Amino acid sequence: MYSMTVRTASATYPVVVGARVLEEIPQRLAAEGLQGAVWLIADAALTTAAADVERHVRAGGYRISTLLVPSGEASKSAQQLQELYDWLIGGGVERRDIVLALGGGVIGDLAGYAAATTLRGLTIVQLPSTLLAMVDAAIGGKTAINHRLGKNLIGAFHQPRVVLADTTLLATLPARELRAGWAEVIKHGVIRDGGLFSALNELADARHWQAGGPTAAWDAADPQLTEQLTALIARAAAVKTEVVSLDEFEQGERITLNYGHTIGHAIEQAAGYQLLHGECVAIGMDAAARIAEQLGLCSADLVRRQRDLLGAYGLSVQLPPELISGGLAELIQRDKKVLQGRIRWVLPTAIGSVTVRSDVPHDVVQQVLATLELGSAQE
Ligand SMILES: NC(=O)c1ccc[n+]([C@@H]2O[C@H](COP(=O)([O-])OP(=O)(O)OC[C@H]3O[C@@H](n4cnc5c(N)ncnc54)[C@H](O)[C@@H]3O)[C@@H](O)[C@H]2O)c1
Ligand SMILES: [Zn+2]
Repeated sequence: MYSMTVRTASATYPVVVGARVLEEIPQRLAAEGLQGAVWLIADAALTTAAADVERHVRAGGYRISTLLVPSGEASKSAQQLQELYDWLIGGGVERRDIVLALGGGVIGDLAGYAAATTLRGLTIVQLPSTLLAMVDAAIGGKTAINHRLGKNLIGAFHQPRVVLADTTLLATLPARELRAGWAEVIKHGVIRDGGLFSALNELADARHWQAGGPTAAWDAADPQLTEQLTALIARAAAVKTEVVSLDEFEQGERITLNYGHTIGHAIEQAAGYQLLHGECVAIGMDAAARIAEQLGLCSADLVRRQRDLLGAYGLSVQLPPELISGGLAELIQRDKKVLQGRIRWVLPTAIGSVTVRSDVPHDVVQQVLATLELGSAQE
């Protein structure tokens, strides 16, 4: 089990990563001095895990009620939020009560926002169930629902009181979702932890992952692998923990987490959300690294090593031909992270460090996008 601490101006809280950490929920709640009733909001795909959580929480002497929310991004809606309010307020929720969010980023963002806004702020405990949520979404206090005009446009910062990432939950996560999550893990290595990048490589070599990675999800028959993967996940979560501690409200350092996301988001939209977020981020990381290489900020070797590692974890850096639509440049310009018309590019300088540049020439970007849109990312 790995434990780390987020320290921001508004909150200090533990992030715990390990196999079966959900069994400890009541002890963790008690350690935080939390005594109210528990309101569990869970992804409908996690009924078994939700029942387990209920059992543990009850055994610890807490009262608990559960609401299952339909799986999928569509649940980050005003309508679903209203249902949460009805359930909480109709059920007599009190200020001292505790909301548990069991699921991926969708449930974490939705339940987090409900908790942020109900009775001016209820305690939220994040129980991430996807790889992406364990290393990213559940840590840092960003909560949101979507608006007709765009993703995550209605939201609030509301830091969790505790984050418990039980890696055994990943056993049931679809292989494609797991793979997409590795993109963010690799991203964390590239932006801030060269040792994580090497450790990811070493495991891939030891297991002979030419391509595909640990796609068969968790292998209960291989506890050693589970332990190794858990260590990598904890290390990636630590990167998010550090970055959030340095920059709670996205004024500076936190932009580095956006590595691979400028082009990644554009691809996500161009593909009409048929590609998973992490799949798009992998393509975006490769493109960003090639931009950095063009600018002389990093070596061709970095580009190659990153591409190899992404490949080893089953991630392609090519746009699928049927999804090539052109128009990525326009989509990039509309990205949220654009400041006064200038795109802030997060670009690697070495494995484990990045720089932020607003002066990337248009033609360099154009050239790299052209290779993508032609479906011929250079080998
Ligand atoms: N708040 C943040 O800082 C932040 C950061 C990154 C992403 N996000 C948000 O996170 C969302 C994406 O999160 P995600 O990738 O976790 O997607 P998700 O929550 O939609 O989960 C992916 C799929 O896996 C299923 N699932 C989840 N856990 C499972 C498990 N253990 N076993 C079986 N199935 C399981 C879900 O039902 C869903 O179908 C987006 O809405 C994004 O905006 C938020
Ligand atoms: Zn991301």
